[in-house]
Amino acid sequence: MKIAIIGTGRIGGGLARAWASHGHTIRLGVREPQGSDAGAFAAELGATLHPIGQAAQGADVVTLAMPYSALEAVLEATGNLAGQIVIDCTNAVLPGWSLKYGHTTSAAEELQKRIPEAHVFKSFNAQGAENLANPEYQGVRASNFFCGDDPRGKEILKQLVEEVGFEAVDTGPLQSARLLEPLMLLWITSSQQLGTRDLAFKLLRR
Ligand SMILES: NC(=O)c1ccc[n+]([C@@H]2O[C@H](COP(=O)([O-])OP(=O)(O)OC[C@H]3O[C@@H](n4cnc5c(N)ncnc54)[C@H](OP(=O)(O)O)[C@@H]3O)[C@@H](O)[C@H]2O)c1
Repeated sequence: MKIAIIGTGRIGGGLARAWASHGHTIRLGVREPQGSDAGAFAAELGATLHPIGQAAQGADVVTLAMPYSALEAVLEATGNLAGQIVIDCTNAVLPGWSLKYGHTTSAAEELQKRIPEAHVFKSFNAQGAENLANPEYQGVRASNFFCGDDPRGKEILKQLVEEVGFEAVDTGPLQSARLLEPLMLLWITSSQQLGTRDLAFKLLRR
């Protein structure tokens, strides 16, 4: 698949590394490709570096892995992403770790309203970025939750989540982002309480 990743930091970089190792064509989207620090990273992965709009154009999947505050600027560059799968990894947090949206809507649903012809999914927002490099705990794969409305997109999300090494858990329609977005706050609170970022969620089943 052709996967565009906007943002090459801890989340974008981790996903790029994992998906490149599975043979996907990775296009990293940055504000200023010329002289960007991400150039060496792209070369290491066999990925390419582009201005944001160009990275997204024609990609099967567009992954948003930049600060939520950059969303408007990013959408201005990408356009409406019609027909493309969009993975929203961002966390719309306000100062003091409160959520911008909650309960009656979510950042992902608001994003879907903004780009109605795209297929928006929420995923990779509710664990520390370190888990992207190693999501295994004593031989058990951590769970990574995703949600979205497009049936074909769900198959793709399942594959991409598993390629990072997680157990993929489909939590239903995009509306479930109302639950997945606050889950990030539970991860952060637990991390602070336990004094480690070496933790992840696991859904147990019989
Ligand atoms: N870190 C975590 O554990 C974690 C976990 C789950 C979800 N998240 C979410 O994932 C997203 C990325 O987090 P991160 O930790 O990967 O951040 P990060 O390491 O700080 O990386 C952010 C990336 O976004 C780029 N960026 C910043 N402003 C931009 C703009 N206006 N337009 C385009 N790109 C821009 C940065 O580029 P420059 O380097 O050029 O500034 C950088 O490549 C955030 O929304 C965060 O809430 C983070």
